[in-house]
Amino acid sequence: MKIVRTKDDLRTLRRRWIFKGEKVAVVPTMGALHAGHLSLVEAAKASADRVIVTIFVNPKQFNNPDDLTGYPRTEDEDAAKLAPYGIDALYVPTPDQIYPDGFATNVRVSGLTEDLEGAHRPGHFDGVATVVSKLFLQSRADVAYFGQKDYQQLLLVSRLSRDLDIETEVVGCPTVREADGLAMSSRNVRLSATQRAIAPVLKAEMDRAAEAIRRGADRRVVLDTAKQQIENAGYDTVEYLELRDAETLAPVTDLSRPTRLLAAAMLGDVRLIDNIAV
Ligand code: PAF
Repeated sequence: MKIVRTKDDLRTLRRRWIFKGEKVAVVPTMGALHAGHLSLVEAAKASADRVIVTIFVNPKQFNNPDDLTGYPRTEDEDAAKLAPYGIDALYVPTPDQIYPDGFATNVRVSGLTEDLEGAHRPGHFDGVATVVSKLFLQSRADVAYFGQKDYQQLLLVSRLSRDLDIETEVVGCPTVREADGLAMSSRNVRLSATQRAIAPVLKAEMDRAAEAIRRGADRRVVLDTAKQQIENAGYDTVEYLELRDAETLAPVTDLSRPTRLLAAAMLGDVRLIDNIAV
């Protein structure tokens, strides 16, 4: 596995692969890799001749400076976790490779991003859209893999790729969960033992709510009860628990189209998000 730190070195590799007609996949990450990321790497390996994993802790997508400072930076451990997968390149750009002096461009995907995560994390999705555009253009990958856990992010990167005619196809992969249902996340390591025991309640209540809604129960009542149960179990606040159209994220009026239940909740100072199909 080659560790690449500049966009020029990445381009050189990419050109060599294009010349041989090889299909290239990219898995963008911010490091602190867990089984969820590794499932994306596996999917990428299965579909492409060459796989690039990127690690870049993107300052532009952190609306809270403490979150950026505290974000785990574990390049050596990440490289060791990737070693068995036989990827072709680990791209760990220095900040100037992504945001050179005078960088003045902001990519914003309207419509999909103002609500839900966007409402609670101002500027977050502009940061994601900007860095992902750069990573797509620098890697010129044929295909990119993202987890469904960040569902709104997945929709936004698919849209930006389409809107900007970037020739990187976006593929979403299922959320990987712990045995008790908790969605894998780099943030889980920040949970205390007590919080870790409470954390799975979020998904359990989401499952219960989705099932009740499928059976025709009153949606408002079901969602209010689920929120209450999550907070009663020890979560500090449920920021949102919403039923949305799976493609547009618009509030749903009926269940005839694919629907997603999305949630964000604070457990101490750890913010957990999840979503499931209804
Ligand atoms: O999901 C993430 O880890 C990040 O938001 C991403 C897509 C790598 C962009 O920085």
